[in-house]
Formats: sequence, C-alpha cells, structure tokens
Amino acid sequence: MTALTLSTAAVAGQRADAIVVGVAKGAEGPVVAPGAETVDQAYDGRLAATLQTLGASGVEGEVTKLPAPSGFKAPVVVAVGLGAEPEKDGAYSAESLRRAAGSAARALAGSKKAVFALPVADAADLGAVAEGALLGAYSFDTYKENGKNAKGGKNGKAPLGEVALLGGKPRDKAHKAAVDRAVAVAEELNRARDLINTPPNDLNPAAFADIAQSAAKEHGLKVQVLDEKALTKGGYGGILGVGAGSASAPRLVKLSYTNSKADKHLAFVGKGITYDSGGISLKPAGHNETMKCDMSGAAAVFAAVVAAARLGLEVNVTGWLALAENMPSGSATRPGDVLRMYSGKTVEVLNTDAEGRLVLADALWAASQENPDAIVDVATLTGAMMLALGSRTFGIMSNDDDFRTAVHETAQEVGEEAWPMPLPEHLRKGMDSPTADIANMGERMGGGLVAGLFLKEFVGEGITWAHLDIAGPAFNEQGPFGYTPKGGTGSAVRTLVRLAEQTAAGDLG
Ligand code: BES
Ligand code: MN
Ligand code: ZN
Repeated sequence: MTALTLSTAAVAGQRADAIVVGVAKGAEGPVVAPGAETVDQAYDGRLAATLQTLGASGVEGEVTKLPAPSGFKAPVVVAVGLGAEPEKDGAYSAESLRRAAGSAARALAGSKKAVFALPVADAADLGAVAEGALLGAYSFDTYKENGKNAKGGKNGKAPLGEVALLGGKPRDKAHKAAVDRAVAVAEELNRARDLINTPPNDLNPAAFADIAQSAAKEHGLKVQVLDEKALTKGGYGGILGVGAGSASAPRLVKLSYTNSKADKHLAFVGKGITYDSGGISLKPAGHNETMKCDMSGAAAVFAAVVAAARLGLEVNVTGWLALAENMPSGSATRPGDVLRMYSGKTVEVLNTDAEGRLVLADALWAASQENPDAIVDVATLTGAMMLALGSRTFGIMSNDDDFRTAVHETAQEVGEEAWPMPLPEHLRKGMDSPTADIANMGERMGGGLVAGLFLKEFVGEGITWAHLDIAGPAFNEQGPFGYTPKGGTGSAVRTLVRLAEQTAAGDLG
C-alpha cells in the first residue's frame, strides 16, 4: 500500500518524482489553486499562462505534466484539474480535492514518490486529499505474475509508492486524526476492492469466511461463521437454497465490533454472492462475465466493520456477510421450489437469478434478532437499479423516510453519489404466490423497488432499516476516473463508516 506522510519542508527542496499542484477552470482560463504559490513563483508567476498554452483548462480529471522550474529537486510538476473555480471566498469541495488527488495518483503510477501541494484549508480537506491519493493509487495485480509480461518486461506500472502531503500541520491533533482516518478507511476500502476483483475460483464462500476470520483476529473483532451444517441446523433456508447448486457450500459470517463506551448498535448486512451465474434461471452470455462482483455488498460491510474497529469508534457494529455461490446443477434450487426461510416465512422461487434477496432475507432476520438501533444492508441487487440510476449512483430505500434522508445526506457528505427511491406498497401484490407466503419475483417494472419490498418483509418489527442497491456503482466496467479504478470500486464503504461515526457521535437516530 502506498505510504503517506505530512511534510512541511519547502517544495523546491523536496526529493520526489513529481510535485502535484491544482488548477481550476476560471472564467478566463486556467487558474492556479492555492497551495501552489511557491511553485508558481518559481515559474515567475507564469504557471497559469503556461498551462493555457499547453491546452489545459482546469477541468476535473485533467492531468498536465510540465518540467519543474529550475532549482527544484523534483523533475516534474503535475497540474491536476479541480473543475470550476469556487465562487469568491468559497472553498474547493472535499470531493473535488479527493477526485483531483485520485487522478494525480493514477497518473503517477510507476513513480516512487510525489509531493501533493493541493489547496488544503483545514483538517477535512487534508483528509480528503489523503483519501483520494490512496484510493487513486490502487492497483490489482495479484494475477499479473509479479507484474511481468511474457517477455520478462513490466506489464503494468506499480502504484505510486509514497505520497507526501503539503499544507497540513503534522503536530496538529485534528490534522493528524484526519490523516489517520483517511489511511484506515482507504486501506480497508482497497481491501474490499481486492476481494471484489479476486476471481470467483479463488474467492468462494469458505475462502471469504476465512479471510474475515483472520481479519477479525487481527483487529480484535468477535467472529462467528455458520457453515452448511450450522445453517441447516439453524434453518437458514434462503442462504442454503441459493448455495444448493454449488460445489462450494454457503456461509453466514457474523463480525462483531464492540466498544465499552457505546450506547448504540448498528447492524450492516451484505450480499455476498461470490459468483452469480443465475442458477437454473441461467444468465445469458454477456451477463455473466462480471458476476464475481456480486459479493460487493459483503465486501463493503466487511471493510466498514474493520475500519470502525481500527478507528475505535464508540458504537457497536455488527456485520453480517451472507455468502453463497449461485450455480446451476442437479442439486440446485429449481424455479418452482419453495424455501422455508430463517424467519419461518416460505418463499416460492420463481427465478433463481433473484437470489440476492433470498440470502439477505435470512441475514436481515438474523440481524433483527439482536434488535439493533438500525440495520443497513448493501447489495448488488438488481439490474433495474442500474437502468434507473446509471452506473455511478446507488439507490437508497428505507422503512423510515427520515432515516433514508439521513443516509442520503451521509452519502453526499463522503462523496458517494446516491439517490432516494420509494417502496410503493402496491407493488407488493405482484409477489403474491399461490403456494407460499411470498414469491421471490414480482412485476418487472420497478424491479429494484420490488426487491426492496421483498427485503422489508424480513426486517424485524419496529427496526429502522435502509437498503442500498449498489448494482450500478459497485463495479466499474468503463475506464478509471478520479479515485475510482476499473473493476471493484468499494462502493458504500465510506457511507457505512460515516454512518457508524455519526451514530457514535449521537448525530444519527
Ligand atoms: N446480481 C444480480 C443484479 C446485478 C445485475 C448486479 C447487473 C450487477 C450488475 C441479481 O442477482 C439479479 O440477477 N437480479 C435480477 C433479478 C430479476 C431476476 C428479478 C435482475 O436484476 O435481472
Ligand atoms: Mn442474480
Ligand atoms: Zn446477484
């Protein structure tokens, strides 16, 4: 993982591969952002004009490299676009700093060290730059034969090795805390990305559970793993039904972080389908290739619980990972089968590809038995949510309007794009089954909301609950942008961590 330090040394004397400065899009061309004053002076105040000559405008994500001014120890200056210049006296948003730092870190892959001189006004800005840089520097090369290609040359570039941040005060408590927080969150988020990117032949439910177990040990969490025997004994018909077709048996993992000063308890529940082939209702070709990402919800929950522990938050957080592989075989659940769920309700499985709601139903009911103050589930649940919101925004549904609004505000605060979605009661009757209490499919229209309504039936009476459908943003199939890489993104991790922080501070519910 990329190392991160705070530096107060003069920029000219910094021994590094590059100095990163910010450039904003002003009304009349690029504008050099605060933090880069000394760099600009060393160019005789001509940095903005030079950038304009090179065709730079300061738009978000733009990266321009230029030779460093004479007298600088670093050879290159990297000017990264921050987007529109803030109004007079306004500040750059934390998210624009996070994205710019991420774009710069990505552009510097292959370099050993870079110094970031971005506009940092306070501790929160410092944390945002740190987070953006560490998230942008991510790469997944576990399967790249030590980064070598067939000819023995380098295949990919190693991620930026070290980030030195300017503009912070290393002895200031708030600054130090902001950086420590950014490091913990980014490291755990990057670990979630690693899990998502790991191919499904290596990450089956048992392997995921093992990883959770060793992380629990490392961070002093309590962990309980229910294997197929325990699931059968406990009557977890949803998780067992989804896993029935796979040679790799399902697991339910419970991770508990407790803090002696806590008076609130949050439960996070994650969909952990390590591979979703659709089962007997097999997905058509073209829809299978990225389905290793179907455990992104469980990865996010896992990362958030570990981050909460690392940060020592004064709140109890329980993470539930509902792990199964959805495969077709002679032992698989058939369309038409009826499952008896952990809650006692029966479900007629009309489509084995609507499996996420089945594993979540058991985990939501299990989480409900502890009567937490709130439950938040995270799932790559429906293609319909992607159709509705696109590939960068997750949907938020809830049984409580105020809580849904609170979760949405939290997501916005940490820079995750999300949008509130309704749970219209009239869609419930589409899931009426002639045989069982409910079917696992309803009307096609509003498919994301139908799935949400299904989940709602498995939340304990009176418990505040929100459901995040991250099917769109969990896995980036397009090119990288800002601090978001191709592949697993770590969607919802930062929202969950912030929810835990707010709950600890008594600012939520
Ligand atoms: N894992 C998929 C949803 C999904 C699709 C996630 C694309 C990410 C990208 C889920 O299990 C699924 O197959 N949902 C079905 C439900 C339908 C059968 C009611 C869907 O959305 O088509
Ligand atoms: Mn499916
Ligand atoms: Zn799925």
